[in-house]
Amino acid sequence: MELVKTGKTKDVYKQPDGFYLLKFKDTVTGRISGETDPGGNIVVGFMDKVAAGNVFITHYYFELLKKHNISTHYVNADLIKNEMVVRPAKLFGNGLEFIVRYKAAGSFVGRFGNLCKEGDKLPKIFEVTIKDDDRGDPPCTKEILEALKIITAAQYDEIREKTIKICDIIKEDIEKHELELIDIKLEFALIDDEITLIDEISPGNMRVCRNGKKLDYLTLFNLLKST
Ligand SMILES: Nc1ncnc2c1ncn2[C@@H]1O[C@H](COP(=O)(O)OP(=O)(O)OP(=O)(O)O)[C@@H](O)[C@H]1O
Ligand SMILES: [Mg+2]
Repeated sequence: MELVKTGKTKDVYKQPDGFYLLKFKDTVTGRISGETDPGGNIVVGFMDKVAAGNVFITHYYFELLKKHNISTHYVNADLIKNEMVVRPAKLFGNGLEFIVRYKAAGSFVGRFGNLCKEGDKLPKIFEVTIKDDDRGDPPCTKEILEALKIITAAQYDEIREKTIKICDIIKEDIEKHELELIDIKLEFALIDDEITLIDEISPGNMRVCRNGKKLDYLTLFNLLKST
């Protein structure tokens, strides 16, 4: 199988049938300080069962979205091999990430910490960042994305609507486990010219709290897995 890309948390292969195979790895992302952070841009460590947890939760949420008639890149998952088969997508530029923030945390507090504090309620803020590890994934406005010819204004609006719809479905599901979704990032790209959710939906892409306390990776996996 042809290796298409080596990512921080997954390797991407092209299968002979044209589908992509995402092979999840036991890596944890975080900040230069070594602190784990789902928005982090470097691999800060390796942890047993992270791949298994990420593929399990990702498959769980893609199946949930299927039930809501939301089309995604997901085809199927092998929870033993920590692999997922997906439809290949064309990224916007080198890839964009779409964030929904329900409460202030992470890089948001890093940027606006003199105007808000960790945990402040936010009015469901939608943000876009350009995937660029060397530049710390810069946040980007609709105007900038249009000017850089990465997406059109109409595509931006469509992605915004899809992102919020999907994140609200995930938030509602998380609340059923008596957990709170603080923020989450998704990736969209084009499949057959249609804006489609790709990549993963896992604890590595979201910040979740229980009783106001941030949950670590494994506690979150175990909680979601056991229900
Ligand atoms: N269906 C798909 N078609 C094409 N590329 C995809 C698809 N799904 C995911 N990808 C890409 O595959 C890569 C997955 O690897 P990984 O998540 O480890 O990437 P990364 O960019 O290094 O990490 P991070 O997402 O934390 O920045 C990402 O670049 C993602 O955009
Ligand atoms: Mg990724």
